Amino acid sequence: MKKNFLYGVSTSAFQIEGDDGTQGRGLSVWDSFCERKGTVYQDENAKIAADHYNRLQEDLDLLAGSNVNAYRFSVSWPRVLPEGTGKINGKGVDFYDRLIDGLLTRGVTPFLTMYHWDLPQSLSDKGGLQNDDFSKWFEEYAALLVKKYGDRVKHYITFNEPINVVHSSYYSGVFAPGYRLNEWQTMQCLHRMLTAHGRARNVIRSVQGSETGMAMSTFEEYPVCGSLRCVEAAKEKFFQKDLASESIDAYLDPVYFGKYPDRLYDKFPALNEKRYAEDLKIICGKEDILCFNNYSGTPVDEGKKSVSHGSGAPLNAMGGAVDPNGLYWGCRFLAERYKAPLYVTENGVACNDIVALDGKVHDENRVDFLERHLAVVRRLIDEKADIRGYFVWSFLDNFEWLFGYTKRFGLVYVDYQTLKRTPKDSYRWYADYIRTHKE
Ligand code: BGC
Repeated sequence: MKKNFLYGVSTSAFQIEGDDGTQGRGLSVWDSFCERKGTVYQDENAKIAADHYNRLQEDLDLLAGSNVNAYRFSVSWPRVLPEGTGKINGKGVDFYDRLIDGLLTRGVTPFLTMYHWDLPQSLSDKGGLQNDDFSKWFEEYAALLVKKYGDRVKHYITFNEPINVVHSSYYSGVFAPGYRLNEWQTMQCLHRMLTAHGRARNVIRSVQGSETGMAMSTFEEYPVCGSLRCVEAAKEKFFQKDLASESIDAYLDPVYFGKYPDRLYDKFPALNEKRYAEDLKIICGKEDILCFNNYSGTPVDEGKKSVSHGSGAPLNAMGGAVDPNGLYWGCRFLAERYKAPLYVTENGVACNDIVALDGKVHDENRVDFLERHLAVVRRLIDEKADIRGYFVWSFLDNFEWLFGYTKRFGLVYVDYQTLKRTPKDSYRWYADYIRTHKE
């Protein structure tokens, strides 16, 4: 692989840290969402999760043992600012200090995500993304992180999966805080999120040698055949959906081109107002890195229709297709349109893992998945794509949002009764892969 290529693993705060109520952390919208009966599988919550907060040293050693040279984690906004703004929770700030120092002493580069869905509840009470002050709140939070950690952290992701931050949380309402707004209201949320991204990037710029981006998720469309028409059809489907809040170009065109796609100005004439143009100057940041989370692939035909994978095609434990073409074409489409360096910030698979009678976890489907997807990364690099890193989702089994603890994505198995960690076969496989491919 390339020199300085980052091989990493990813996690997020809410999914692994846990909080027994003594840590000074404020509530997040996901804490509240878990309280709503019937929302999360078996009404589970993340009060313990993988108990990472209390097992930091053990987890850092496990990380080092996997040979990764990068770790993508998220900071819990309400852990450092319990009310979202104002009063700082010293214990929370110290926790990430220890984490970052622990990474650096083990030769692991920190990749810090500022927002992986756990919006402080007190800010949600003020409307969250429905409030015009959102970008100022986020800027204050970003400034705190840069002040505390900017001497050691150079890689920043502002928002994890903007489509979920906006669409799933404010339009379809399947994710916390569960609003169901109309299209224009959702578009305004999208705009506020992008403005927050732009303001945060301007703060991060003060960190010498820093990089900033948003980690995009996609629906992973790719051409079912090699014809030009098919490629163009898949590309269009990849970037554009009926709803702006589900369209990648609605999020990334403003960042790289300083304007929304033309069709959105027709659909939402109010977007032509001067204040949006002013905000777009803040949002635009051509030097942003492209970060891409990928789990699957959807073949698309010349008529822009999704094509079935066929009877008996391999599925993951979430019911989605195992299809590395999604990763290949997603990276190509993004790099071609936005011409920026790329990181695969999440790629992984849920499997029905068990601890076998020999005490080990033989997750050969995950090993196969990683092998196929890393082959795609190598192919892209051979084709001269500027890919700089690859992160497996996830390091540890964790709280999988609406699915509670039923879906396991980790390279390390977590027994939720005892919290014992058992590295899976895929952990050893990845460690070996990195050892033999790192230059
Ligand atoms: C999210 C993770 C999640 C993973 C698996 C991604 O969309 O960023 O938080 O656990 O998918 O569903």
